[in-house]
Amino acid sequence: MRIGVPQEIHAGERRVATTPEVAAKLQKLGFTVAIQSGAGVGADFSDEAYRGVGVEIIDDARTLWTADIILKVRGPEAHPALGCHELDLMREGALLISFIWPAQNADLMERLAARHATAIAMDSVPRISRAQKLDALSSMANIAGYRAVIEAAQNFGRFFTGQVTAAGKVPPAKVLVIGAGVAGLAAIGAANGLGAIVRAMDTRPEVKEQVKSLGAEYVEVNYQEEGGGVGGYAKTMSEGYQKAQRETTAKQCMEVDVVITTALIPGKPAPKLITAGMVEAMQEGSVIVDLAAEQGGNCELTVPGQVVKRHGVSIVGFVDLPSRMARQSSQLYATNLLRVLEELSPKKDGVATVNMDDEMIRGATVVNAGMITWPPPPLKVSVASTPVNGAAPLVPPPPKKPWLPARARTALWCVLAGFALYGLGSAAPPAFMSHFMVFVLACFVGYMVIWNVTPALHTPLMSVTNAISSIIAIGALIQISAPGMLLTLLTGFALILTSINMAGGFAVTQRMLRMFRRSE
Ligand code: NAI
Repeated sequence: MRIGVPQEIHAGERRVATTPEVAAKLQKLGFTVAIQSGAGVGADFSDEAYRGVGVEIIDDARTLWTADIILKVRGPEAHPALGCHELDLMREGALLISFIWPAQNADLMERLAARHATAIAMDSVPRISRAQKLDALSSMANIAGYRAVIEAAQNFGRFFTGQVTAAGKVPPAKVLVIGAGVAGLAAIGAANGLGAIVRAMDTRPEVKEQVKSLGAEYVEVNYQEEGGGVGGYAKTMSEGYQKAQRETTAKQCMEVDVVITTALIPGKPAPKLITAGMVEAMQEGSVIVDLAAEQGGNCELTVPGQVVKRHGVSIVGFVDLPSRMARQSSQLYATNLLRVLEELSPKKDGVATVNMDDEMIRGATVVNAGMITWPPPPLKVSVASTPVNGAAPLVPPPPKKPWLPARARTALWCVLAGFALYGLGSAAPPAFMSHFMVFVLACFVGYMVIWNVTPALHTPLMSVTNAISSIIAIGALIQISAPGMLLTLLTGFALILTSINMAGGFAVTQRMLRMFRRSE
């Protein structure tokens, strides 16, 4: 089958649906690939680069659209130069793979059905673990989160990292990320990498550990409410929670220099989390990057698609952040499309078949041979413990009543441990008991030392533990003066090895710790 990749016509769109690297892999699946001349230029891929891997370059859009499979980024729309809709150019019965957003584009769905087309919507890929390699939404959100930090840095008049210079001490920027989903976590990583002090808040408590492991501080809202909703996504929070969250956000806005908001509840307008009053309370020169601008924005003053200055604060409302990193996002998106085609063509014979029995393909197929198949039936494997097909919700069984109150149980365990120790002491030789006590104390001290170390510091902890384990060098030192040439040689060799391990371990730990240190 022949794959056609047209030039994106949406104003400002710079991404392209395949790159030379991915086009070569598509051909290995047995497909022939054609691309419209200049389609990759916005993402810095020249026609020559495509030609170099055997892709046919076609000048005329009408010819290109006659392909069996069309790969696109944005859904088809009215063609400004040709004066017709892109779908009018598509061959009847062809397969389209692109973003479609079926809920928002009923007209496009009707047009697809009228063309007897089959359409796979990259925005409708179910978020199950098997489908992660196809998950273009996550790929794009990841890029958007990174780019949001770059946009913030661009509009922020200071360093992100702290510095001590001859001209004075520069404090690090403080960044607050609201919403720690895919985009939020990418933003935390990028802001941390630039040296800022990063804080993050979310309504789902399960992201707390992820936030901390990326080196950010988790900001708690002082209100008890579970934030997870259907499918592991967020839900709309109660009035009480929203009030408490507004108070926390207002306090944070006064302290931080940059706010990056990514809060979203699927299928709902973005929650308004930053009021005009909070913007006014921020320091002049601060920056807000509102990733939810397209869904109405998390900030009241956001203007979608623009950077505006309100009360001395720059508010970035760009809705095309992935397109602003077109080369990177094209590469990731093209790889997501390649994975779809691998699923459609398991025999690698250049024939794509839409298998509606595969729940991953079923979920993403919004039109099948002219039949609108969206919305898909609920997934058999639910991502969260939500009721499926109207079945009774999974109610956790009531907790069993313990046979003894907690304190009495602890006391009982202590008495039993005491008896066990007494029994061991009276039966074992005296030397065993002293070694045993050292062992128990070592376990206790080790536990106390390691238990409170934050997850982000686990890697340096491992390397320093490795260095300390070289204490076995003492064994070699004791043995080195023992009679016998062979023993001296062996212990000498052991000493050299453990010294390398010890010195190297401490050096590596120091280097790792330096990455965590910043001068406030
Ligand atoms: P996601 O669904 O993975 O993450 C959203 C996060 O917001 C979740 O962790 C959720 O728990 C949290 N959240 C919801 N309500 C909240 C509240 N009231 N307070 C705090 N946290 C709350 O979504 P993803 O993929 O990370 O995308 C985030 C946003 O970025 C979306 O609005 C998406 O449309 C947008 N986006 C924008 C782009 C642009 O160019 N501007 C490009 C790509 C994505």
